Formats: sequence, structure tokens, C-alpha cells
Amino acid sequence: MRVGVLSGGGDCAGINAVIRGIVKRAEIHGADVVGIRRGWAGLMEPDLVPLSYGMVEDIFAVGGTILLTSRTNPYKKEGGPELVMKNVNDARLDALIAIGGEDTQGVAHKLAEEGLKAVGVPKTIDNDLSETDVTFGFDTAVNVAVDAIDRIRSTGTSHERVMVVEVMGRDAGWIATHAGIASGAHVILVPEQEFDIDDVCQAVLARRKAGKNFTLIVAAEGARVKMKHGQVTSAQELDQFGHPKLGGIGHLLAGEIERATKLETRDVVLGHILRGGPPLAFDRVLATRLGVAAMDLVAEGKFDRMVALKGNAVVDVDIGEALKPKVLDTDLLSVGRMFS
Ligand code: F6P
Repeated sequence: MRVGVLSGGGDCAGINAVIRGIVKRAEIHGADVVGIRRGWAGLMEPDLVPLSYGMVEDIFAVGGTILLTSRTNPYKKEGGPELVMKNVNDARLDALIAIGGEDTQGVAHKLAEEGLKAVGVPKTIDNDLSETDVTFGFDTAVNVAVDAIDRIRSTGTSHERVMVVEVMGRDAGWIATHAGIASGAHVILVPEQEFDIDDVCQAVLARRKAGKNFTLIVAAEGARVKMKHGQVTSAQELDQFGHPKLGGIGHLLAGEIERATKLETRDVVLGHILRGGPPLAFDRVLATRLGVAAMDLVAEGKFDRMVALKGNAVVDVDIGEALKPKVLDTDLLSVGRMFS
């Protein structure tokens, strides 16, 4: 049996540990693994590399993805899906494992409906895929954010400033909420709930009045400003999955806060720092388990399924169901917002 594996969409810590898990398990099942480079792009213009365990044995702690990644959507090109299916056949791939978030899993699901034998592995720092309690990469991203914010807190406290920290999170505030709680944020802003800049300024002034000269605001990049701007974007174009390039909410907020409160305010964008670097232990373990389970699904002949974590068990779920956005836990957000 020959199994293809690709990683698509934004990278995150842990993809290489998944690949290693797949290759090791494949060896045990007597299957060969072929890496596909740059996500779906590597099946539109074939770019394949056979993977042996010797090649991947030591990559579990390495950030990024050795297979490279892209945001290529075969459904954006006339004849794209047919081309992918043809290239899968030409490469004699019996099955395909797609490591990715909502976009990559969406393509895998559509192609599976057209006959591709696909298995999904959920990957996104945003943690916004349904049917899995958590995605690998999220825990590392939150920890990296907290480490950075601890540093931002000490300089912000010393200068008695308002510090606005922008973290990733396109449509979901999981990172902002977890990082905000863990770093003692006074204001947490998420895409799921529109906010009013005046309310934020009032919260800052109320703290000042209470003798608190430092305020920490953690905002997801996708946080929506009521009435005025919606989401803040840094470019006009959309990617092949229709997503805008977000960025700038922290800067916008800092400017407005400083203008309205006359308090010195700085903004820091953590952005891609949260995606890069080595995975922490939790993500190494989860990614390894998911890679092994994905290969087991292939061996069992169970397709159009995604491996997932439920409680402490690795299970398999319908890919289509996983595509529904995982709604932010509002109880968790309320806990985070108690500390203004
Ligand atoms: O993969 C999800 C994500 O990390 C989002 O949080 C963010 O908006 C986006 O990727 C950024 O993508 P890019 O690397 O293309 O700038």
C-alpha cells in the first residue's frame, strides 16, 4: 500500500511529529509513505518525495513542516479537482492523509465525496475545528504567547503604560482567551463578540481611577470593532479560500486608547511567532498519537474520517462535521473577563 501525506494551510508546531507518527506506523503496517510538497499544490503539479523512517526519525521537535505548505485550493482552478484525482492515480497512491485546518479538511472532504480515499488530521493554532477537543499547535501557541506577554507585562508595569497585545485567531478567540487568562489580561477581545472601543477606554480609565497604572489588553487579530471597522485587515486581496489578510487591530486600538485616555499606550503583534518554533510536550504527544491513528484508519480502510481528541481518547469523526466552527466557550471567556 502507498499512502500520500500532505500539510496545507498555515503551519503550526507539531506537524512534523504527525508525519513521523504516520511513517513509523506505516512501517509497522508494511505500507510506503510518500510526502506531497506544498499541500494541494503538490498534487496539482506533482511534487512527491518518498519518506522513510530514517528521514523523519528526528523531526518530532522541529517546528514548521518538512513537507512545506501552501494555501492552494484545487477548487479555485478549472479542472483542479480532476487534476488532483488524476495525479493521485498516476502516483499510485492508495490513500491520502491531509494534515490541515478547516480549508484543507474541506478540500479533503469534497474530494472524498468524489472518491478520494482521504483521512484528515486536524491542525490549527486557532483551535477552531469542531469534533475535536483541541488541535495540536494550540497549546504551544498559547504558551509562547504567555511567555511573551509576561515580558510585556514587566515593561508595561515599569512604564505605567497600557499595553495592547495582538495574537492570532482569525474567526476564533481561543488563543486570546487562554493566553489572556494565563497572563492576567484586564481586557480580552475576541472575534466572536463585537466590542466598542469606548468600553475599552472606559475600562482603562476605571483602572487608572482605582490606582492601577498598568493595563493589559489581549486582542485576537480577528476581533471585530462595533459599527466602525468590523475586522481590521492589512491587505485588500483574499486568499484562495476567501480569507482576508488580517492584522492591525492592536495598532488601531492603541492609537484610539491613547487619543481618548491620554495614557501612554503601546501595541505588540505576536502574529507568526505563535506558529513557529518547536512544539511543546503536549503537542508532541498529541501530534504523534494523531499521526499513528490516521495511519491506522487508512489500514482499516476507513475514509472521509478525521482523527480527533475527545477527552483523553483519540477517536475518528466525520470530516464534514469537523468543518463546523468550534464555538468559543463563553463561560471560559466570562472567567477571563472577571479580572478587569
Ligand atoms: O492558520 C490560521 C492562521 O494562523 C490565522 O490565525 C491567521 O489569520 C492566518 O493563519 C495567517 O496566515 P498567513 O500565514 O497566511 O499570514
